[in-house]
Amino acid sequence: MNPSAPPTFTQDELKTLVGQAALAYVTPGSIVGVGTGSTVNKFIDALATIKDQIRGAVSSSEASTQRLKALGIEVFDSNSVPELAVYIDGADEIDPSGCMIKGGGAALTREKIVAAQSQKFVCIVDDTKLVPVLGRFPLPVEVIPMASQRLIAQFAAMGGSASVRLRDGVPLVTDNGQHILDVIGLRITDPLAFETQVSQWPGVVTVGVFAHQRATVCLAGSAQGVTTTNFQ
Ligand code: 5RP
Repeated sequence: MNPSAPPTFTQDELKTLVGQAALAYVTPGSIVGVGTGSTVNKFIDALATIKDQIRGAVSSSEASTQRLKALGIEVFDSNSVPELAVYIDGADEIDPSGCMIKGGGAALTREKIVAAQSQKFVCIVDDTKLVPVLGRFPLPVEVIPMASQRLIAQFAAMGGSASVRLRDGVPLVTDNGQHILDVIGLRITDPLAFETQVSQWPGVVTVGVFAHQRATVCLAGSAQGVTTTNFQ
């Protein structure tokens, strides 16, 4: 073994590292905004170790709510908490300005709501999620089912190929009772303009570009450990 070689981590270990590192952004006595996904699950596990020091959490999905409650962390209704100091969530992609693609776990609508009520968005990822331009990951869009075919045509007109996300052969139904389109073939060079445009299409509930609610901080796990990037 070469003692000067950097440690190698599995992707799972990198998720654990960034999940634990995110604890530094949790203020004692606060209610924490909690995202969804395998990386956030590591954060929830870490949060449970300091659960006596926080009031609880606002959750972005039924899955995270279940995990939080199982670990003894109180979950508050987002309507009962006017503002959160921090929201901690993963991403499917993050660009050099902190704009993200999210929704791989189909929780994008509630994620955007909790992000919008938070002063700070701490994004926790492993370094495979860092991209120069958004669009390699299929873009999730939560839609009203009766609009799916029209929206698929609208994405085709901008060069994207959209399909309804399936689970067990039938359309996946989100926590909000809607469907997800996954759009491939897009290169999103102006995330803010793209999010504004697509959000206005009738039938779109939420587009998985997070530019208006971009990250304030990114904690990225790599062979070198956790790298912190603060965005302006
Ligand atoms: C769920 C999300 C997740 O944050 C995103 O899919 C990343 O998940 P993971 O940490 O499992 O890679 O947006 O809707």
